[in-house]
Amino acid sequence: MGQERKAHDLAGQVAIVIGGSRGIGRAISLGIAASGAHVVVASRSPESVDSVAAEIKALGHRADGIAADVSRIEDVERLVGEVRNRCDRIDVLVNNAGINPLFKRPEALTPEDWDLIMNVDLRGAFLACREVGKVMIAQRGGRIVNITSATALHGTKRGLPYTAAKAGLIAMTQTLAADWCSHGIRVNAVAPGYVTTDLTSGMMKNAGIYRRVLDKIPMGRFADPEEIVGLTLYLASEASSYVTGQVFVVDGGYAAIR
Ligand SMILES: NC(=O)c1ccc[n+]([C@@H]2O[C@H](COP(=O)([O-])OP(=O)(O)OC[C@H]3O[C@@H](n4cnc5c(N)ncnc54)[C@H](OP(=O)(O)O)[C@@H]3O)[C@@H](O)[C@H]2O)c1
Repeated sequence: MGQERKAHDLAGQVAIVIGGSRGIGRAISLGIAASGAHVVVASRSPESVDSVAAEIKALGHRADGIAADVSRIEDVERLVGEVRNRCDRIDVLVNNAGINPLFKRPEALTPEDWDLIMNVDLRGAFLACREVGKVMIAQRGGRIVNITSATALHGTKRGLPYTAAKAGLIAMTQTLAADWCSHGIRVNAVAPGYVTTDLTSGMMKNAGIYRRVLDKIPMGRFADPEEIVGLTLYLASEASSYVTGQVFVVDGGYAAIR
């Protein structure tokens, strides 16, 4: 037990959680902070990131909020620059920012629809990995956790740009893990099934769709955001010291019975 606790200890470390203001990202920010890291919460909304940072500080941990749109290279460069100025190093990056605002048949998708989602869910993660990766290479180590989706592994109806972006994120995770292993950087992915957040609130309000999805989940419910934290913390810490390039599904048994 003592060894286990030590392995998850992030005391003295610095973590950036992009998309840390709500839902899964907020839960991850709180969880990583509780393990001792100084957490930088980033998302587009300045009020939201400041609010989560204040919540973390009120619990006696260290945090900052920095507003940044991960799809904009200038924002990502500024974010990483500010973190380096304040903290000098970056031990953990969690790429959690994600959007899925469309529910269209493939033939109805426009190139703009495609770009809208790809720019955040895939390009944004690339930009963040690239900028933080430079810092981790220079300091000879770090951990990156990319939040993908179980739908990237089995597809879903009317979710083409989202599933393609999330599948790309898995390929990016595997490739970065190979490229950066020699620099002491480990890169892994977490693939949640259905989680109760703003992202799924529309689906949950549609009784027919919600029931059909629940029927496919052996546990019979969506996850709470806090249920994604344990695995993320494992991958963000030395507890997973021999793990890289992997994707881990957290889906209440959904994939097991497909
Ligand atoms: N909920 C699920 O069932 C589920 C399942 C599988 C995977 N996921 C993935 O888990 C991650 C979190 O999802 P969630 O359900 O917690 O969604 P959510 O509640 O909608 O939160 C999304 C987060 O991403 C941030 N964000 C969105 N666009 C951004 C941008 N351009 N730049 C920076 N931050 C941005 C949002 O903050 P701002 O609006 O302030 O920018 C927010 O903090 C996503 O990557 C999602 O694809 C979720």
